[in-house]
Amino acid sequence: MKGLILSGGKGTRLYPLTYTRAKQLIPVANEPVLFRVIRAIRDAGIGEIGIVVGDTAPEIKEAVKDGERWGVRINYIPQGAPLGLAHAVKISQDFLGDERFVMFLGDNVIQGGISPLISQFADSQWNSQIVLTKVPNPQQFGVAELDGDGRIKRLVEKPKEPPSDLALVGIYMFDAHVFEAVNAIKASWRNELEITDAIQWLIEHGHSVHPYIHRGWWIDTGKPMDMLSANAHVLEELTPAIEGTVDADSKVDRRVTVQKGATIINSTVRGPTIIGENCRIENAYVGPFTSIYHDAVIENSEIENSIVLEFSRIVGVPARIQDSLIGRNAVVTRSDVKPTAIKLNLGDYGQVGVL
Ligand code: DAU
Repeated sequence: MKGLILSGGKGTRLYPLTYTRAKQLIPVANEPVLFRVIRAIRDAGIGEIGIVVGDTAPEIKEAVKDGERWGVRINYIPQGAPLGLAHAVKISQDFLGDERFVMFLGDNVIQGGISPLISQFADSQWNSQIVLTKVPNPQQFGVAELDGDGRIKRLVEKPKEPPSDLALVGIYMFDAHVFEAVNAIKASWRNELEITDAIQWLIEHGHSVHPYIHRGWWIDTGKPMDMLSANAHVLEELTPAIEGTVDADSKVDRRVTVQKGATIINSTVRGPTIIGENCRIENAYVGPFTSIYHDAVIENSEIENSIVLEFSRIVGVPARIQDSLIGRNAVVTRSDVKPTAIKLNLGDYGQVGVL
């Protein structure tokens, strides 16, 4: 089998972070979501992976390179515009050939591996397997309606009135019949070739599509709050390790990971939390469910349930920062310059909640 990862698109819902970075490269528990997806496919025994890339191709190539780090071979498939998930399949036909393949959306984070799922499909006669899970907000996803025997009756993309609460998770398995489907369907109202329409086409033309119901957690990291909850879930699963330095005046609990070159000085760090390489945490409190990415500084400040990206500095902030996503090279400080006021230099679409 081969792997296909979709990493094009624009990530508008994660602005401003995604003005300057591909959304699939935003780290969750200090590992970019895309890297986690590559690992999951590799762990299922697949060594040949295609990545569909759009405007952010240079950045993705720079980060992933040829895949050697994971022991896989990466092929990049350029997509001129984000014309839909089925369009991404269509342009990948040369790479995929006649092989069965798994398609994984590069911004999805799912509990556990996908190995059992993939081997089940590899050994089956099914033409396709899709993954479904119950969600409270099916309007925001592709939704499946099953019949009394648990077979798929109908799939609809982001329906206003969902026929069920079973959303399509961003993992799909196909054989070469899918190319007939993606070539037959027409663009939807949002001008995209929808993968849900392609799967519906397979069903209507007598091909077998098996629904697998996923029971663990799953997060489509589309919005900032989704990013924070994916971060919290992944942190809970991390095996903690202290590779940096913790001084005698600091309290660092069991579920904390301190990566290489990081120093914790006179601070309290509560897990599950990860402190990235070469960070400095000094006279600070870092609370649960926080990921501080490489080379950041937290000094005389308190933060929890947040993600801080690389090279950012949070220094002398008098109130606790919570539920926040802070981009790269950001600076949050207390200002002593009069007049006393909140002084902001905020990117487009940034959001600040003041006391
Ligand atoms: O996350 C699951 C949902 O993903 C499914 O329930 C929906 O049925 C499916 O359509 C999809 O919906 P989204 O609106 O979340 O898709 P999004 O536009 O966010 O794209 C998902 C990934 O695919 C993302 O990493 C960007 C990439 N992509 C997207 C498009 C439209 C491409 O590489 N090329 C594209 O043309």
